[in-house]
Amino acid sequence: MPVTEALRIIDEDDSGIDRAFRNDVLTGLAQRQKAVPARWFYDERGSELFEDITRLEEYYPTRAETEILSARGAEFAEAVGEGAAVVEFGSGSSAKTPLLLSAISPAAYVPIDISGDFLRASANALSEKFPGLPVCPVEADFTRRVTMPEAIAGLPRLGFFPGSTIGNLVPRTAVDMLREMRETLCDGAEHRARLLIGMDRVKDAAVLERAYDDEAGVTAAFNLNLLHRINRQLDGTIPVESFRHRAVWNDDIARIEMHLVATRDIAFTVCDRRFTIHRDETIHTENSHKYTRRSANALLLAGGWTPLRHWRDAQDRFMLILAEASEMRMAP
Ligand code: AVJ
Repeated sequence: MPVTEALRIIDEDDSGIDRAFRNDVLTGLAQRQKAVPARWFYDERGSELFEDITRLEEYYPTRAETEILSARGAEFAEAVGEGAAVVEFGSGSSAKTPLLLSAISPAAYVPIDISGDFLRASANALSEKFPGLPVCPVEADFTRRVTMPEAIAGLPRLGFFPGSTIGNLVPRTAVDMLREMRETLCDGAEHRARLLIGMDRVKDAAVLERAYDDEAGVTAAFNLNLLHRINRQLDGTIPVESFRHRAVWNDDIARIEMHLVATRDIAFTVCDRRFTIHRDETIHTENSHKYTRRSANALLLAGGWTPLRHWRDAQDRFMLILAEASEMRMAP
């Protein structure tokens, strides 16, 4: 079955991506607490470094989620049924997708990703593994509503959002995105949409901090690469060697925070704009929220999704949750 040409619903060209990056960096560095959104980690080098992170002994989430996907195929199949259209949000180069697809015998696969090159490459690779499966890639920003391809009209839809990517978003933004996903999957659909979503669990702070500050310094390089990217793409003069990586567990909000700490007073420019940062001041670069079964349920419910089932790995580190689009009705 051929891969259909990617449906493209992006209003930015490559220079548009640069504009958005520039805008986020200039705005973020002008704040009292300097910050750059985590989505900008993933240039080519950043994506490579993240792949390396997933293979670290300390970084358990990828292995834990893969374990659940491998072990619970029969239960997914029973809960989801055959013949669904699987819509993957932010498919990237996802190695996890085949595990789900071979478990549930879907009728179509719709990968959505903002990076067209990545999308086409992974759609083609997947299509080779599943020769009978229609693959309909959509190049789009899945944090907003996305129009589904004609090819899946009438099929029941299962959203797939693995990787605990939702953990990068603060609850307010996460809820907005869950609502958009609900629209994407429910719009014009005849069946109640479902969502299979991966979330990392709250656990011992030392285990979490190790996962985000590994011995070999790969996560540090991943964090610092953001500064290299700013220097490269936004004509920056940041002395990268004067920053160091920090990962801390924020227990009140249940999240890991990654920062870049200035080791001295520094002045630099980005796109000809001047910035200063004091010694020990930080640039906040990532949040990675962790959930309990209840906090995950509360988030999903706020986003219009009713949790149906939870699966965990043997060591209770990670969970995959199956939810269905909540019915709009009067509630007591
Ligand atoms: C890709 C968002 C799931 O938060 O664990 C890994 C990114 N950052 N190490 C995560 C990440 C530092 C990762 N996610």
